Amino acid sequence: MGVGISLSSLSSAVANEGGIGVIATAGIGQFESDWNTNYSGANKRALRRELAAARAKTNGIIGVNIMVAIGDFDEIVQCAVDEKADIIFMGAGLPIKLPHTLPLDNLGSLHTKFAPIVSSGRAADLIFRTWAKHFKHVPDAVIVEGPMAGGHLGFKKEQIGAADYQLERIVPDVIAAVKPYEQQFGRNIPVVCGGGIYTGQDIYKFMQMGAAGVQMATRFVATYECDASDEFKQAYLDSSKEDIIIIDSPVGLPGRAIRCDFLDRVAAGGKEKFLCPWKCLRTCEFRTVPYCIARALTNAKKGDLAHGFAFAGANVYRVDKLVSVKELIDELMDGYEVAANQADAVVG
Ligand SMILES: Cc1cc2nc3c(=O)[nH]c(=O)nc-3n(C[C@H](O)[C@H](O)[C@H](O)COP(=O)(O)O)c2cc1C
Repeated sequence: MGVGISLSSLSSAVANEGGIGVIATAGIGQFESDWNTNYSGANKRALRRELAAARAKTNGIIGVNIMVAIGDFDEIVQCAVDEKADIIFMGAGLPIKLPHTLPLDNLGSLHTKFAPIVSSGRAADLIFRTWAKHFKHVPDAVIVEGPMAGGHLGFKKEQIGAADYQLERIVPDVIAAVKPYEQQFGRNIPVVCGGGIYTGQDIYKFMQMGAAGVQMATRFVATYECDASDEFKQAYLDSSKEDIIIIDSPVGLPGRAIRCDFLDRVAAGGKEKFLCPWKCLRTCEFRTVPYCIARALTNAKKGDLAHGFAFAGANVYRVDKLVSVKELIDELMDGYEVAANQADAVVG
């Protein structure tokens, strides 16, 4: 979770409980003093530091999330590979091209695994087909993210509430899309799903549909270990169902966020003054957008919600207290077990 919401603290806590902890690289260098003059250098330095800090706290699995739309995608992917990140999750765009600095004819030799994030079976097939053709290799796993997720969504606005695009519908499509590549490459390709998953019972439901695991974000913001400010977490605790809105992000995608004065100002036509030193997102029309999303999200991470806003999933209004990552994962495991036992009882 960017910007700065999931860094070494949250990722290491999740990894210590047996999950894959993820460091978000979106805007990671914004907290460095030289970000304005040394964009990619600051991003890489911050990523190296967060990876090292996470590793100092866990021997578990630490991944890195890299948005395809960022201006220095190639450099950040290369940096994560050099630092031996265990896995790279690539979303907000289709990762069709990889940096030429990687051994593209031997991706399987790298320590780092690759997992694209998709919103449809068609997108999964396109990525896998392209990789198979050009790299003679396919991704190691795939994440399918449904329209109840937080942050940027890989759907058109009108698709977000439509039955055909809900996670329950798209998970089977992605599993079916990946199957031929499992046969062709002779290995298992886990399909992991996310977006609105809230309880252990939800996890059970999606794993019964064939998902190998789940990706969760919103619930992990409301943990002591989450790297966001207390104010950001409080916005989660305070939110009600009516506060959850879909915005037009300057990135060019819809995004789900918690309504606040900042977003109301922008929706009413307000413009925030900003300088854009780097065009950090390739898809951002920085000359015409009403605000800098990197800066707004950085402000929110730091607790300045008057000049920023919090991304959140559709179920954020259900969050009512902060817990530790261990407590949350224990609760999820218990819920999973209850659902599994109930299913056994019905079958028995
Ligand atoms: C605060 C926040 C920031 C996020 N940032 C990113 C990001 O930087 N990259 C990304 O691929 N997904 C991002 N997401 C999406 C999550 O990784 C995740 O897939 C999704 O929110 C899961 O749904 P859930 O929040 O209902 O669990 C973000 C979500 C939230 C809530």
